Amino acid sequence: MEYSLPILPTISTSCIVISAALVAYGWYLILRRNIDAHKKTMLSAAVFALLFFIIYLSRTIFIGNTSFGGPDSLKVYYTIFLVFHIILATVGAIFGIVTLWTGLKDHRARHKRLGPITSVIWFFTAATGVIVYLLLYVFYKGGETTSMIKAILGF
Ligand code: HEM
Repeated sequence: MEYSLPILPTISTSCIVISAALVAYGWYLILRRNIDAHKKTMLSAAVFALLFFIIYLSRTIFIGNTSFGGPDSLKVYYTIFLVFHIILATVGAIFGIVTLWTGLKDHRARHKRLGPITSVIWFFTAATGVIVYLLLYVFYKGGETTSMIKAILGF
């Protein structure tokens, strides 16, 4: 093989995609009025989202973030897109927690209003996350990786 994809970002991006697929399936299940299966599927979606977050966070702390390795002319667009993705992911996580909460507490009306909004935000989070992954590691070779610990301690 000419080059290999970085293992941790590949695993964490797969986790977001699996999580979004589970949310889509959970939505389908509730349309079929299958409350128990909807609950289990959405909780599994939350577990995969959490797994993503744990991997992402440990990589950021111990290994670091990788800078964009593509042409300089695209760098500004990449950065804007990355910020857009991070905002979507943050809003999605907050909506996700509230939606899970309203589901578990059986606040039906609020949950029914929030559910579709949270799901759509999460689909866009996953889609933009995959595009960031492709831009960072597949279409172009990733740039330098700087660790937070390295940055803070200076070695
Ligand atoms: C443990 C967690 C959850 C439980 C117990 C639960 C339970 C329910 C119930 C009982 C309904 C039917 C509401 C009604 O028709 O009156 C519902 C609808 C729905 N839920 Fe959940 N839910 C959970 C988590 C989630 C999460 C995390 C999401 C999104 C990410 C979600 C998305 C939806 C959607 C899209 C609907 C359909 C609303 C509609 O009828 O248009 N649920 N949920």
